[in-house]
Amino acid sequence: MADVILKTDRLSKNFGGLIAVNNVTLAFERGQVHAIIGPNGAGKTTLINLLSGDLLPSDGAILFNGRNITSLPPHKISQMGIGRSYQKTNIFTEFSCFENCWVAAQSRINTSMRFFRAARHLKSVAERTEKALELCGLSQRSDSRASAMSYGEQRQLEIGMMLATEPELLLLDEPLAGMGSDESLQVIELLRRLAVDHTLILIEHDMDAVFSIADRLTVMVNGRVLETGTVEQIRNSQAVQEAYLGVEEDAV
Ligand SMILES: Nc1ncnc2c1ncn2[C@@H]1O[C@H](COP(=O)(O)OP(=O)(O)OP(=O)(O)O)[C@@H](O)[C@H]1O
Ligand SMILES: [Mg+2]
Repeated sequence: MADVILKTDRLSKNFGGLIAVNNVTLAFERGQVHAIIGPNGAGKTTLINLLSGDLLPSDGAILFNGRNITSLPPHKISQMGIGRSYQKTNIFTEFSCFENCWVAAQSRINTSMRFFRAARHLKSVAERTEKALELCGLSQRSDSRASAMSYGEQRQLEIGMMLATEPELLLLDEPLAGMGSDESLQVIELLRRLAVDHTLILIEHDMDAVFSIADRLTVMVNGRVLETGTVEQIRNSQAVQEAYLGVEEDAV
């Protein structure tokens, strides 16, 4: 039996009359990179927003490590070990890299623990911050103000902030969006390093990146799962070629 870290059961999200996520049942295996692809408006970001608690589902359930996390608020889900990055960069531009990651590391601490916040505790936040900066490749930029960094570095910092919460599962919404090819390669390398000891759910439009890094792929179209399987299965799927990959190739 596969070791499933996250599972959705008939998950749906309606916005008025629009069904953005429609009856999605998926299992994500521990330790894998599972990419979610699909055309604009397919419901990929909405699905991530449901998994992270940023949106409440209209129907269905989400299980993380066997626990029902449906409708828990985002900070609880983050504290349980699910980290996320956003499609649009979400950093404090006037803060340094260190400060941005510090805020994220601090957020992992349950507020009910604040009366016990001893020096020992603060040290662990600093250590976690430094570890996150090292992992995301920004140790040398620790004191740089975020607004003074390149767009690619800012996206790296966002990943660093997610790592500062010490997640087990990373939800990444288009981490390569808007990057030049050198910056993309750096972030792909970073994702590869993270994949060694994390589970990744990755939304990405860059098909070369997806095919090179993913273990499994899910294709969404109009809120539904069109197909899910290994990279080979998806490459060879007639339905996917017609509905998505074929369209992309025609458009080039
Ligand atoms: N807060 C919202 N209110 C109303 N409609 C929304 C909201 N968020 C998303 N939608 C709609 O839900 C559908 C799915 O959007 P979503 O952002 O999940 O797509 P996506 O697959 O991430 O697309 P993209 O590749 O462009 O990022 C779209 O039709 C979108 O307009
Ligand atoms: Mg999106």
